[in-house]
Amino acid sequence: MENFEPEIVAFCCHYCAYTAADMAGSKRISYPPNVKIIRVPCTGKVDAIHIMKALEKGADGVYVAGCLEGDCHFKNGNIRAAARVENVKRILEGLGWEPGRVEMINMSAGMGERFAQTAFEFTETIKKLGPSPGNPSKLAVGAAS
Ligand code: FES
Repeated sequence: MENFEPEIVAFCCHYCAYTAADMAGSKRISYPPNVKIIRVPCTGKVDAIHIMKALEKGADGVYVAGCLEGDCHFKNGNIRAAARVENVKRILEGLGWEPGRVEMINMSAGMGERFAQTAFEFTETIKKLGPSPGNPSKLAVGAAS
């Protein structure tokens, strides 16, 4: 498991986290290449099925990064997203998976450092958890090493 490099999907709101990622880039603040960003118009558009599909398709962890509470451009999309993330955590628990594989994060467009820090911290968390139980090919690789 020493060389395990997790695949992480980050659903990022166009108005905040995606712009924060852009800002991190323009300030030359690096973040782990493990994090694959999917831009969404608002985290309110991210449904539980999207998170579950990402895990099913090989992601070891997924986070949803939306605007700060009270700052969602679509009123309460980030609140709805947070509730869905909590729902997915319960589903994962029911499956015997670690609920920490999914998280909701809030940030503003100006938080390039926070974006990078979140990417580093979440990557470390998933490294500690190991490969997703939903990805048998990774389990086989992990077992061989
Ligand atoms: Fe950013 Fe809704 S517009 S979370």
